[in-house]
Amino acid sequence: MAPTVQEMISNINNRSGGNDTVQEPSDEQLKELRQKYEKAGQGHVFTFYDSLNASQKEALRKQLSGFDPDRINKLADHALNPPKPAEIEGAPALEPLPLDATSSVFDSKPEDLSQWYEQGIDLIADNTVAVVLMAGGQGTRLGSSDPKGCFDIGLPSQKSLFQLQGERIWRAQHVAEKQHNKEGVVIPWYVMTSGPTRGPTEKFFEKNNYFGLKKESVVIFEQGVLPCISNDGKIILESKDKVAVAPDGNGGLYNALIASGVVADMKKRGIKHIHAYCVDNCLVRVADPTFIGFSGSKNVDIATKVVRKRDAKESVGLILQKNGKPDVVEYSEIDAETAEAKDSKNHDLLKFRAANIVNHYYSYDFLESIPSWANRLPHHVARKKIPYCDLETGETVKPEKANGIKLEQFVFDCFPFLSMDKFACMEVKREDEFSPLKNARGAGEDDPDTSRRDIMAQGKRWVQAAGAVVVSEDKEDGVEVSPLISYGGEGLEYMQGREVRAPAVIEKEE
Ligand code: UTP
Repeated sequence: MAPTVQEMISNINNRSGGNDTVQEPSDEQLKELRQKYEKAGQGHVFTFYDSLNASQKEALRKQLSGFDPDRINKLADHALNPPKPAEIEGAPALEPLPLDATSSVFDSKPEDLSQWYEQGIDLIADNTVAVVLMAGGQGTRLGSSDPKGCFDIGLPSQKSLFQLQGERIWRAQHVAEKQHNKEGVVIPWYVMTSGPTRGPTEKFFEKNNYFGLKKESVVIFEQGVLPCISNDGKIILESKDKVAVAPDGNGGLYNALIASGVVADMKKRGIKHIHAYCVDNCLVRVADPTFIGFSGSKNVDIATKVVRKRDAKESVGLILQKNGKPDVVEYSEIDAETAEAKDSKNHDLLKFRAANIVNHYYSYDFLESIPSWANRLPHHVARKKIPYCDLETGETVKPEKANGIKLEQFVFDCFPFLSMDKFACMEVKREDEFSPLKNARGAGEDDPDTSRRDIMAQGKRWVQAAGAVVVSEDKEDGVEVSPLISYGGEGLEYMQGREVRAPAVIEKEE
């Protein structure tokens, strides 16, 4: 519909800058939007609307038009008042995953491991492998204003998490090229961001020249957001012209993969195997050939990597079978007896020990099927302190304690949609593959210092295994090995017999 003269004048007067013009809706459209929210009991979001200037009005309208208040009510109601598990299905039957769905690097035959590795390298060389990074979280516990991936964990090289990961992708491409004597191997890197992390992530990648990767092989996309909800089910206004929103959880990955065209892009490129992981794991083996080869050879839709749960009390989610389906059970959901149960074949091990590290393989076909099941993914409640607009005064208030909820989907909630034969699991060594960055420096656990320590300790093991002698004043001092010269300890033969003074960084093959 063409704007009226008055609307055009108003648009000109209210330019937000540059060439942007403010699009006034017709009275009818605005009325419809208001009514939709009022009918859903969420009319308060328009409290200050009439007092806003045109660009503020437009911003608020744009936000509100993006949500369906009836759907938000349903999601919030379900999340705030979930049916008790017993009401739905009785006590769940929990069992470890069946043996034929699992393998462990602790007891796999070396020839199996090397066969999977070679298969993975072949698939990479065929350009059928892609990587998906989940980096849409706000990293509130770490407390940095930049996205977590930009964080410098204090390595001698000062490399960020993004750089470590990008360089591992480069190295995996390089190894596949060398082994197949070909050029042009590409592992596309799909980076999921969210409203708060997209801009700074894009800038960081650009500033760092995509970490040596081809720009066109890095695709940055954005997950959705959902409104934050007060404890009594109302959409929270953050300020007069803005609804408080939060990314929809790492399970928002699935909708985002479709909506942003990532799955279509994968199809175009002929991708068949996808490795997905979280930004905060400094040890992650991005596009790990062994894992890709293992999962590909099992012909599954999803495979996960797990580490061994440290002890019965460790607060980790467990990958297991629940009522005969693959699933994840949170540590808070199992009783002490189940947590402490021992493996019937080996009493030194816990029966349920497969700790979830959110490190997944997906077949392309599975990702293509997302639209057929994504609306069945539940939303979970995360209780948070959410700045809100006082509806009397219009002031934004920072609450002292949790005043509302964020609605989040979890990336593993689709596991039970699979039959057991389409799911596999690989146990890997924690010291080689999992060290998450969750907390601010000084926490003593899952913080920048533990991340740095674990990378340096791994590098030291690698160079020692290659025959180098590491000397240091402090035995804790380690060696940083650049991913550009070694992905997983390979390629360090030239270190044989050398002396390395730790702490050290090995950046170049000499
Ligand atoms: P966490 O749940 O640990 O959240 O994310 P976080 O944002 O890193 O940190 P806190 O809880 O705010 O302190 C685990 C992984 O899931 C991604 C994160 O970026 C991280 O890689 N994630 C989380 C998303 O991609 N989107 C989300 O909406 C939430």
